[in-house]
Amino acid sequence: MPGIFVTFEGGEGAGKTTQIQRLSAELAVRRYSVVVTREPGGTEISEQIRSLLLNPENTDMRSTSELLLYAASRAQHVLEKILPALDRGEIVISDRFADASLAYQGYGRGLDIDLIKNLNRIATGGIIPDITFLLDLPVDVGLKRAGERGQGFDRLEREEIEFHQRIRQGYLEVADQEPNRIKVISAEHDADRVYTFIQEEIVTLFDRF
Ligand SMILES: Nc1ncnc2c1ncn2[C@@H]1O[C@H](COP(=O)(O)OP(=O)(O)OP(=O)(O)O)[C@@H](O)[C@H]1O
Ligand SMILES: [Mg+2]
Repeated sequence: MPGIFVTFEGGEGAGKTTQIQRLSAELAVRRYSVVVTREPGGTEISEQIRSLLLNPENTDMRSTSELLLYAASRAQHVLEKILPALDRGEIVISDRFADASLAYQGYGRGLDIDLIKNLNRIATGGIIPDITFLLDLPVDVGLKRAGERGQGFDRLEREEIEFHQRIRQGYLEVADQEPNRIKVISAEHDADRVYTFIQEEIVTLFDRF
């Protein structure tokens, strides 16, 4: 069986990490080799870039710098971790990936979408997830959930509400353009119901391999 690349996308507090934990635990019980990773981050170097990106003290960061830091983090992540795992035939599950740059830096910050698509092609070397789950949630619900987690807000979570609304709409537009890959799930449902939907899609996907 070749490797399978699964990504989770969505705004703050949508439940990405919660669902990834459940899916990876179930796949491990079923004796699949699973690599769980995240963006920004996933490797030593990428995690250092993550600290720069999410540090609330970096209030002066410009959108272009942000875009390029995400791309640098992603390039390292793909080359050092994702591609080798896929080559070994493993299942890679990433908490956010290239679609996040379209949503956050494109729709959120207003940077050129085609330029970001080109940059993504450079950073990813052209790899595309086999399936992407977009957990869609009203912005206020997501931010409330993220706040209740009690870890404080990072630099992006501290952005104005309109920024998060543009991201939500952006993600939905990206999903519209690639309905076969990107599965939109209402994350307002309880975690069990969200997970049932994910399970069904994963079973269908695995049947193809
Ligand atoms: N379907 C759900 N219904 C209600 N609460 C949920 C649901 N899924 C997750 N939660 C809770 O909401 C909070 C945020 O969930 P989680 O950390 O999984 O989201 P996330 O998408 O990873 O957020 P972030 O983007 O900030 O990393 C957690 O406290 C989690 O327990
Ligand atoms: Mg998370």
